[in-house]
Amino acid sequence: MSIFFTDQVAIVTGAGGGLGRCHALELAKRGAKVLVNDLGGAIDGTGGSSEAAEKVVAEIVAAGGEAISNGGSVSDRAGAQSIVDDAMNAWGRVDVLINNAGILRDKSFAKMTLDDFALVMDVHLGGAVNCTHAVWPIMREQNYGRILMTTSPTGLYGNFGQTNYGAAKLAQVGFMHSLKIEGAKNNIHTNTIAPVAVTRMTQDMIPEAAQEKLGPELVTPAAIFLVSENAPNGVIIQAQGGNYSMAVMVENTGVNLGLEADADDVAENYEKISDLTEVKPRNMLQLGAQ
Ligand code: NAI
Repeated sequence: MSIFFTDQVAIVTGAGGGLGRCHALELAKRGAKVLVNDLGGAIDGTGGSSEAAEKVVAEIVAAGGEAISNGGSVSDRAGAQSIVDDAMNAWGRVDVLINNAGILRDKSFAKMTLDDFALVMDVHLGGAVNCTHAVWPIMREQNYGRILMTTSPTGLYGNFGQTNYGAAKLAQVGFMHSLKIEGAKNNIHTNTIAPVAVTRMTQDMIPEAAQEKLGPELVTPAAIFLVSENAPNGVIIQAQGGNYSMAVMVENTGVNLGLEADADDVAENYEKISDLTEVKPRNMLQLGAQ
């Protein structure tokens, strides 16, 4: 074992079950003091109880680790602040934040209410923003921090019935891309995990035959690497069933249609514009460089 979190404090949101629980157990096993947050509600975000988080804390403590629970909601500003305050009051620093909490309100867009859309945005994007906002000054002051967003193949590629979820999940990637730039000078690295695993959230969607090979503990190795001291900054790792790969934003060479270009020129050149035989990763610094 070469990755350790000795003397480090980690917060994992939504860690009462599924992926978050696995991340929390592994962080504790590798020496971190862990704040286990979970609202303890249903998949659709209704209800709540601190029991789920407390159970995971008991597991960590039974294995000889150190952990405390928090039953606050990440989508509530005061709840998110309480997560960070609890960690600070117990241990005086926060080195790692894994934004993992999430819910589903799946429906085709034609049938989706704006409330269902907003709630999913509030938990996934709002929750990640609230928690990150609360740890940011602490990490800047420490000149150290590792933050992980949890996106989804739905955010990256889309899925029927998940416009709210997909929008919220890709928004976290956009959030990361600017945080990676703003945090760099204070050694704050922000990365993103795109998991696929059998949890209560997905057990009805993943075919039974595939479930055996898609344990959540196979996502955790990538999550742990991405919040470790030697983590890169600003990458998306996809993790499922023992496969680990990188998702990137790319751009093709395209075509320069000159300063007189109009819509007809774009239409006529669409084949060239959309030719993906040559693509490369792109970042803001390259804008206008061609
Ligand atoms: P899960 O339902 O077991 O875990 C989500 C946890 O978040 C639950 O324990 C829930 O109580 C908690 N939570 C919900 N709202 C909260 C709030 N407002 N404040 C605090 N905690 C809250 O499901 P799973 O699969 O472990 O999901 C973890 C993350 O991974 C989610 O963000 C999910 O969207 C994401 N994900 C999961 C995939 C999978 O294949 N399991 C695929 C892609 C993304």
